[in-house]
This record gives sequence, C-alpha cells and structure tokens, in this order.
Amino acid sequence: MTIERQQGTPYLDALCEYARRQPARLHVPGHKGGPGADPGLLEALGERAVSLDIPALTHGIDIGVEPTPFEQSQRLAAEAWGAKRAWFLVNGASQGNLAAGLALAHYGSDVVVQRNAHSSTIDALVLSGLRPTFAAPEVDPELGIAHCLTAHALERALAATPGAVGAWVVSPTYFGAVADVSALAAVAHGRGVPLIVDEAWGAHLAFHEDLPEHALALGADLVISSTHKIVGSLTQSAMLHLGHGAGGHGGGGLIGDGGHGGGGLIGEDTVDRAVTLTESTSPNSLLCGSLDAARRQAAVHGRELLGRTMAALAHAREQIRAIDGLDVLDGRLAGRPGVFAYDPLRLAVDVRGVDASGYELAPLLREIDDINLELYGQNVLVAVFGMGERGLPEASRLVAALRTAVERVGLDPGGAQASFAAPPPWGELAMTPREAYLGAQEVVPAAQAVGRIAAESLATYPPGIPNVLPGERLTAQTLAYVQHTLELGGSVRGASDRLLRTVRVVVEGGGGATAKK
Ligand SMILES: Cc1ncc(COP(=O)(O)O)c(C=O)c1O
Repeated sequence: MTIERQQGTPYLDALCEYARRQPARLHVPGHKGGPGADPGLLEALGERAVSLDIPALTHGIDIGVEPTPFEQSQRLAAEAWGAKRAWFLVNGASQGNLAAGLALAHYGSDVVVQRNAHSSTIDALVLSGLRPTFAAPEVDPELGIAHCLTAHALERALAATPGAVGAWVVSPTYFGAVADVSALAAVAHGRGVPLIVDEAWGAHLAFHEDLPEHALALGADLVISSTHKIVGSLTQSAMLHLGHGAGGHGGGGLIGDGGHGGGGLIGEDTVDRAVTLTESTSPNSLLCGSLDAARRQAAVHGRELLGRTMAALAHAREQIRAIDGLDVLDGRLAGRPGVFAYDPLRLAVDVRGVDASGYELAPLLREIDDINLELYGQNVLVAVFGMGERGLPEASRLVAALRTAVERVGLDPGGAQASFAAPPPWGELAMTPREAYLGAQEVVPAAQAVGRIAAESLATYPPGIPNVLPGERLTAQTLAYVQHTLELGGSVRGASDRLLRTVRVVVEGGGGATAKK
C-alpha cells in the first residue's frame, strides 16, 4: 500500500468539483442539489451535503475517461485492504452477504454455513436457493454467547457435504471473538472451495499490527466488510473484497470459468454480476463518497487513531474490572474454543456478578446518563467504539454509569456461576430455505407445529444461534427450549410471533405460494 496514493479521494473530489461548478442539473434527484429540497432538510443536513447528492452515470464521476474517479476509488480501497478487487456497497454488509450467496450459486447448490451467521446470510440462502449444511460455532458455557467456528468443525461439515461450493463463516463476532481464519482457509482450500468470511465487524483490523490479522491477509477468498460499523463511513455503506487467491475473471460455473479448478475458486465477473443484481441502479453518492473518505482515513491515519483508541479502551477495561461484580471480555478469551484472538474495539462487559441481567441494566444505563449500547443480552453488554474516536469521553461516561448502576442493583454472589443450558440440536433440513420461504404456508398454534417444516427463523438470545431456520422440521424439544428461554426473560428473533404462541410453517404438498400468507 502506498500512503501517498492513499491520501487522495478521487470520487469524493469529483463530487465536490461537480457541485462547485454549478452545472445545469437536468437529471435526478428532483431536489437538484438543493433548490428543490424542503428547507427543513437543507437546514438539517446543510446545503453542502444536499449539493453532493449526485446520481450515478454522471460524466467525470463514474463515466467518461477511464479509470473514472469511482473506479480509482474502488481500486484504492482494494489496495488499502489488500484485495484483488473491492466493490462499494450501498445496502450494507447485508448486500455483501446477498451477493456472496448469489455468486456461490453459480457453482452448485450446496454450501457450508456457520450456524450463527447474520440474518442477511440466511436471506442469501433464500434468494440463491442454496442448500446449507450448518456448522455449529463454539458456545461459551459460562458467558452463554456463541464464539467462532473451529477448523475442526468446518472440516466435519465439509466432509459431510461433498458437493459444497463454499464455506461461509463469521469473524469477528459481535462480542469481539476472532476466528482462526488461516486454519479455516486451509481447510476450505484443502477441499477445493472458497472461504467466504463475513468480516462485517472487522473492517478496521487491517490497519494496526496489534489487532488480530484480517481475513484477506489470512487467505479468505471473499470478505464482507461493514465499513460503516467501526471504520466510520456513513450508515448503510459497506464493501465486498475479493481475495488475490480467489481466482480470475470468469462466469462462475460457466464453461471456461474453471469453476473450482484452474480458473480459481470464485470468479471476479461472477461476483460483479451478483453485486449488480443486489444493488440499486441509483447508488447514493454520499454513501459512496463516505466510503472513499473512510478508506483514506483508515489507510493514512488508521494506525495512529486505532493505537489511541486501543489505549483508551484498555484503561476503561481496567476501570470496569475494578468495579465489584463486573468483568470485561478481553484478550483472556483467546484460546477458548472458537476464539483465536480478541478484537479490542468492542467493550463487552460481563455482568453476571451483579443482581440484574443485561436486559435490566441496559435501560438503567439509559436512564442514568443516556448511555445507548450496541447490544445487550442476559450476561454481556456490548459497547462499540469507532476507529477515530479521540479521547473517548464516552468510555468514561460508560464507566461512571456502570458504577452507579451497580450501586443501585447490588451484587449477585451466585450470578457468576449461573450456567447456561445448551440448546437442543437443530432439526432436519427437509427442504431448502428458499423452498420453505416461497412455498405455501400457514400460521399454526405452537403446540401444533411439532413435526411441521418451519417457514421462518427462531433464534433465541442468548446465545443467538438460530434454533430453527426456514426448511427445518420443528421438534418438540426445540419449541420447548425456545419457550423456556422466553420465560427466563430471553428473546427470540426471526419469529413472526415474538411470544411464540404461533409459528409460521410450510403447508406440505401445498404447491405454490398461495396459501395464507
Ligand atoms: C456478522 C454480520 N454480518 C452482516 C451484518 C449486516 O451489516 P449491515 O448492517 O452493514 O448490512 C451484520 C450487522 O450487524 C453483522 O453483525
């Protein structure tokens, strides 16, 4: 990576230049860069931001002399992250997962997927029609949270899926656990399939040597990166990166592509058409401009910014650990099953020693000092810190509010020993997620759902691993487990009835998508 080259922001500059010269904007959007906009919007966003809302296919920005500023910026992003090619995404890392699924489906119909993948990965299975073999992540029996997939678990799942066209894993997790991506890549490549890493939470990892190594550097073939999460581009902007080892051009699964042989593991052109299919024809220039700027910030100043943030968070962790009843997740997790390394940009607080759950503490922190967390569960609260937060006044606010909260709720001497009941195994996959999602379906009382095929997901928190996914047969054991988790104060995601009085199931032999929806 050349720092000098990375100083530039060709796309953002081209947007600014267009707005500066006040061209005749005889194109969309109808606000015309400001004059047609509601005054309240102009006041809220500022005239300058609205003037930079410029559509795609504008000469000198993303069409015209090649490489266009847009192409140059995507190339700079590829260089910064060490990718063969990078795509800017305007529908988040969710779009990256959808595109990854559609790209993989060019090569065949089976795929190995980490069970606690993000819901957008499950959506990708629905869109692509891929048949998943799920591989279980390691569950931390003390904290009641899911960590990463081990190489051993991936090997087993791939061995059970001889036709698999890819292996799809998540690293880091919401809680900061980082997988042994190098070992996972070796396993996938040993079976001749690409490794897709959902690194939504790890866009910053490439920019500081004290952070765990990022997935592209460890042999991943396709990496989904939620640039907005920690690196700090605007919400909804993200990137998809193709690894250098992934393969050449080619239509993926088409004659001449080489499939998983000579042409590489996943074709660049295949990914390109999948990105196009999942993208609006009107990508937002502010989102793309923010990606260009965030890439520069990360490439040029990331090391310094991350160094400062890590130091401040290390201090905050010490202060939290000094509060009776609280602990933090940190590098001590590394080495536990499913945790190869720890990403310190999350401040995850273990609250098992106090007399309140994470569900109770989160609203209390809001009440005490307007503290708004990224995530909270029974045992762990997660505060997220951005790459460029200077001085971290928020960390001090969090520490102070935690101190007050613990004083109010008191300690729970038995809490840290609370054990976590492992969920029952997931049911047999009776049809693909796509068939279940699009097939005829009906809503039935939960008691009558046993033995039926689910048309929706049920994922209890803790630990956030889906108990049921569309296409799987519902078992009495699983439904009882979900009910029990709800009774204990947990929650279930994906369910159309969050109290699980009813479940949406497939009408077997029901044919088309015409039954009660
Ligand atoms: C692992 C993972 N992948 C993908 C996503 C989707 O990211 P986005 O919100 O950028 O679409 C998330 C969001 O939290 C996530 O946690």
